Amino acid sequence: MEYTLRKAEPRDVSDILRLVKELAKYEEMEHQVRLTEKDLLEDGFGDTPFYHCIIAETQEENSSDDLKVMGFAMYYFTYDPWVGKQLYLEEFYVMDEYRGMGIGSDILRHLSDLAMKTRCSGMMFVVAENNESSVNFYKRRGAEDLSQEEGWRLFRFDKDSLVKMATPAEE
Ligand code: ACO
Repeated sequence: MEYTLRKAEPRDVSDILRLVKELAKYEEMEHQVRLTEKDLLEDGFGDTPFYHCIIAETQEENSSDDLKVMGFAMYYFTYDPWVGKQLYLEEFYVMDEYRGMGIGSDILRHLSDLAMKTRCSGMMFVVAENNESSVNFYKRRGAEDLSQEEGWRLFRFDKDSLVKMATPAEE
């Protein structure tokens, strides 16, 4: 099957949100997706993009010109004070019917090239413990399980906690 990989453009936000929701559903957490197309547009395509995406698209079946977005990776750059620049893989998804054809590996190749070009020293990501097939997918490619090997735990301050710590709004 022929497909292309390309950088996401503003016109892709509806497909990005569709795939974000599909991945959340796959992870049985669909109800947690609150993001809108407007958020994606503002946050990814303004003066300071907070994320970037690689899009995989192919010719729609039974159509000579319509293209279908069937996979994507969302990433951004972070900084590790011990080793410097890191590429952070936030979301990675290929639609069910297109899996196992090498598209995911191709996206990882693309991101690895980018990491080399930008002199990143690693690619970080979080995988749900029960997503065994993806854990194995990453491990087969050499990923280290840092929770297991180094004992790191994932934390978050939610908005309520932030509000409590932040400077109170003036009356
Ligand atoms: N479905 C999935 N994997 C299959 C299938 C199939 N139907 N058939 C074969 N495979 C095997 C392949 O042989 C290949 O094995 P390998 O690791 O030995 O090479 C591997 O599974 C899939 O490799 P690709 O075809 O290169 O990758 P794919 O296009 O399937 O994309 C991805 C990989 C993105 C993980 C995809 O399987 C997916 O979307 N999974 C569900 C969502 C998910 O778990 N995403 C990652 C969450 S973690 C995060 O976002 C950081």
